[in-house]
Amino acid sequence: MAVIPLNKEEIKKMEAACKHAARTLEHISKFVKIGITTDELDKIVHDYTLSTGAIPACLGYNGYPKTICTSINQVVCHGLPDATKLKDGDIINIDVTSKLDGFFGDCSATYMVGNVSDKARDIVEAALMARDKGIEAVVPYGYTGDIGFETNKFVTRRGYSTVKEIGGHGIGRKFHDEPFVPAWGKRGKGDKLIPWQCITVEPMVNEGTDEFIEKSIPGSSIKYYETADGLLSAQFEHTILVTDTGYEILTVP
Ligand code: MF3
Ligand code: CO
Ligand code: CO
Repeated sequence: MAVIPLNKEEIKKMEAACKHAARTLEHISKFVKIGITTDELDKIVHDYTLSTGAIPACLGYNGYPKTICTSINQVVCHGLPDATKLKDGDIINIDVTSKLDGFFGDCSATYMVGNVSDKARDIVEAALMARDKGIEAVVPYGYTGDIGFETNKFVTRRGYSTVKEIGGHGIGRKFHDEPFVPAWGKRGKGDKLIPWQCITVEPMVNEGTDEFIEKSIPGSSIKYYETADGLLSAQFEHTILVTDTGYEILTVP
């Protein structure tokens, strides 16, 4: 299926939805402290999203029961907020998706709680840099494989692994659209990127094995995932617009 590029008006709406998501992530980051529960973080984002005129896109999406995903330590992604309290030394990815005026903005970041180990600090830094290496590989008429190649090269050189089966996606009028945006691959392979389409870049970086275990969420077809070896996983996500000269990062506050 060919991707339909966004027109000027749609790009404006996409920019607004992404700005909303980024501002929401900035807002919730201030509450990441020892002792807060992930349910409390979820409620803050839920209320903030509604009070600022947007819709929490994850809530009810394929039966997903919460507003955000909170993935702590060995949880790779889609961690479900609950009564778990953040504790000293945790790392937590918070993933926020806002729907505004029919368009979706999707971003996430991994935060360090209290005093974290050197290893935890390093994998968080590596995940951030991996995301940005992937984004820097975006060129109009380039390929999703270019993004994956640069991401995986960087991550493996740092001694970590990337998750292969889960990754970024097209986004815009739909939350999850084509193409799949991998965190590994070959230059010139995958799907071609065209000006005025939006994608997310969101590599999952694992401390040890890239294998993971799938866990179900009651009442939902969404799964959450944990590393098979129980070691750490970290992730950062931006939504970007492919332009006629390169790209623009849309999920900035
Ligand atoms: N925001 C996630 C992503 O980056 C998707 C979460 S879907 C949910 O694509 F249902 F789990 F919330
Ligand atoms: Co996301
Ligand atoms: Co996403």
